Amino acid sequence: MEILDLRHFSSVDLRPLLNDETRVWASLLSWDYNGSAEMILRYVDAKILPGYAAIERGRIFGYSFFVYEGSKGVVGDLFVANGARVPNAREVELKLLTHVIETLQQSPGIHRVEAQLLAHEAGSVARPFLDQGFQRYPRLFMVLELTNATPQAPAMHPEVEIRRWTEADYQPAAAVITAAYRGHVDAQINDQYHTLSGSLRFLNNIVRFPGCGLFDAESSYAAVDRKAKNLIGLILCSRVRGDVGHVTQVCVLPEYRSRGVGESLLAATSTNLRKRGFSMLSLTVTEANAGAVILYRRLNFESKRVFDAFVWEG
Ligand SMILES: CC(C)(COP(=O)(O)OP(=O)(O)OC[C@H]1O[C@@H](n2cnc3c(N)ncnc32)[C@H](O)[C@@H]1OP(=O)(O)O)[C@@H](O)C(=O)NCCC(=O)NCCS
Repeated sequence: MEILDLRHFSSVDLRPLLNDETRVWASLLSWDYNGSAEMILRYVDAKILPGYAAIERGRIFGYSFFVYEGSKGVVGDLFVANGARVPNAREVELKLLTHVIETLQQSPGIHRVEAQLLAHEAGSVARPFLDQGFQRYPRLFMVLELTNATPQAPAMHPEVEIRRWTEADYQPAAAVITAAYRGHVDAQINDQYHTLSGSLRFLNNIVRFPGCGLFDAESSYAAVDRKAKNLIGLILCSRVRGDVGHVTQVCVLPEYRSRGVGESLLAATSTNLRKRGFSMLSLTVTEANAGAVILYRRLNFESKRVFDAFVWEG
């Protein structure tokens, strides 16, 4: 087995592996990975995707890639085909990650590395990260089955209105995200939340790029103070499969919490998806964000998987 630079290969070499990965994402996460796979293949053909491929007898059976965002490196993905041809997939995963981590930590100007490995069980590939001084944050992948029964709309503070998301909410939403995550564990995992410009970049990625499903404006909502008319909370939802929605963001300004706004935002999204025939709504939440986990459990979200987020600061 050899580990080689991913930029030596083309989409023809990588496509069979991505087809395997698409099947794994469908079964583990009810996620249609085809859009992401096509994007990865375009970058591979352009020879601009940094990463490593595991090769045996000329065939790629595992890969991991990363991206640079300013002074930050983000591990994009890790996948190794499991099966008779691959006797020890875990060892290959660890080798690929070791290469990726070393490369990122030694890249000039890179002071931070983030990774979220959704399709990997918590702890399973932690070793190379922990050995290199990364912090580990267990996160839950939770799912709400959208059965026909519509839940009772929660009682909410009369001064707050929930209405459909619009393009004009973009700027104020970045300010709400920055304020909502001040001192929050998720701001340790994703440093975009620290600043207004970072939160805008986060929004831009979610709304304009298809990396995390296709943004679904119809099931995304804003919470507005009726009197002051300003945005005080939001929920953003993307379509990750024809009939599956995924909450990419939900937050409420600290001074408006514990009044049922968060619950109402989640109810607005799930009610909309139900009406449109969706079968499922998923989300991810950091285990240490206990209040949010309690809220989701109360709303019948079930925890399906635990995965890890890793962060290193040099
Ligand atoms: C999670 C969040 C959106 C909930 O919004 P909210 O408007 O406070 O939610 P609701 O008022 O509908 O429900 C709150 C209930 O959920 C639980 N809960 C929510 N947040 C909690 C917290 N921080 N601590 C303890 N309990 C919490 C409690 O059961 C609470 O009931 P109570 O306040 O009456 O005791 C809000 O806390 C928030 O913006 N947090 C920061 C961003 C975040 O963590 N987003 C989720 C990322 S996955």
